[in-house]
Amino acid sequence: MGAQVQATFRATEAWQKQYSWEAFAGTALKAATRFWFLVFLTGQLLFAFTVATFYGRAAVRGDFEAWNKSMTHGYRAGDTAGNLAVAIHLISAVIIILAGTIQLIPQVRNRAPFFHRWNGRLYFVTAFTISLAGLYMMWVRGTVGDLSQHLGNTILAALIMLFAIMALRYAMARDFKTHRRWALRLYFVVSASLFIRAGIFLSLFLNRGPFGFDPATFQGPFMTFISFAQYLVPLAVLEIYLRVRERSNAPARIAMAASLFILAVALGAGIFAVAMAKWLPSIQAAYDPRTSIAQTLSATIASSGIDLAVRQYHDFKATAPATYNFDEDQLNSLGYQLLRVHQFKEAVRIFQLNVEAYPQSSNPYDSLGEAYMNGGDKPQAIANYQKSLELNPKNGNAVKMLRKLKTP
Ligand code: HEM
Repeated sequence: MGAQVQATFRATEAWQKQYSWEAFAGTALKAATRFWFLVFLTGQLLFAFTVATFYGRAAVRGDFEAWNKSMTHGYRAGDTAGNLAVAIHLISAVIIILAGTIQLIPQVRNRAPFFHRWNGRLYFVTAFTISLAGLYMMWVRGTVGDLSQHLGNTILAALIMLFAIMALRYAMARDFKTHRRWALRLYFVVSASLFIRAGIFLSLFLNRGPFGFDPATFQGPFMTFISFAQYLVPLAVLEIYLRVRERSNAPARIAMAASLFILAVALGAGIFAVAMAKWLPSIQAAYDPRTSIAQTLSATIASSGIDLAVRQYHDFKATAPATYNFDEDQLNSLGYQLLRVHQFKEAVRIFQLNVEAYPQSSNPYDSLGEAYMNGGDKPQAIANYQKSLELNPKNGNAVKMLRKLKTP
């Protein structure tokens, strides 16, 4: 009798232990999932808001040149097809982030299936427009990065379109369990655009500058790695998560919860870094009431030449300093626009104005050095890169260019 009681007691104890252990594992996984999703959602919404306000408000003002402040190959005068592809890509970016987020809300799915279906169709179409426009921008128009990165992003575009087809196919077949799996995979590959930005800025923040890539060309082993990791890592985590959630294996659930927690902290740090360095300044610029001096001078250069533009710059600076935006990046981006269309003499004049306005800043000298170098004036290029390096001894680009210029 005694042995029987003891056995029952041991079994109960083991059951209780297991039960509470499993309850804890379930709660931990739920909490970690919510935490991860909250961080992720904050990033997605901030990203969409930045794209809508920065590019949208510039377009409404007719200041398409402003796009080039945040993109290396944004707006190019005369390139209608290319500019249209960029506009489609940007509009699709905002739609796909917002539509995707709405699709995930269970209440919407359950209570408004009609809306879920139409929003799903919009998401499907946008998956194609963003991918095809992105492919055009990359392969036809050209962008930063090398072949390996182009390959990584091409596979990403292909996966987005393939997963969109699979999600639609299973929805039409009314196999909603499989549909949900493909829709989640689609959502994760689409979100690679957030993961890559967070990853790059987290690396810049941790390494206090570029590590494993050249910031001018965006080429290097780190960029190659992240071009593939931006979707392969999230997809792998998603597959593991789905399997862990299906099985009631407490240690696996706890390990998954801990991993999700660490991933959420890393993602949060990356989002914070990109927000501080890029998104918040872009939102601020979008609401800047001043007229862009770059846009004004660009129109003058096109209609009346560089001499008049330089005179206009001095006039406006003397008579209307608060009306125009004379920030350092204005002339810098105008100079680069001119460099891109090989107007070297005009670019030199614009960068010279920036050096005069900001004599203690390293970057305008670096840009002036580049304009002289591209225009074939080696001694002036060397002098300006040297000045830039004096003002900022950490300017790796100047070191590289000086080495190149001094090699016979
Ligand atoms: C699906 C999600 C995607 C979103 C939300 C997205 C969003 C954006 C945004 C907002 C920009 C402007 C730069 C910035 O402000 O950060 C951009 C640029 C660009 N995107 Fe995408 N994109 C996505 C997918 C893709 C894909 C799949 C490709 C390639 C096939 C691609 C190729 C490009 C290119 C080439 C640029 C121009 C980069 C430059 O010249 O600086 N994007 N994208």
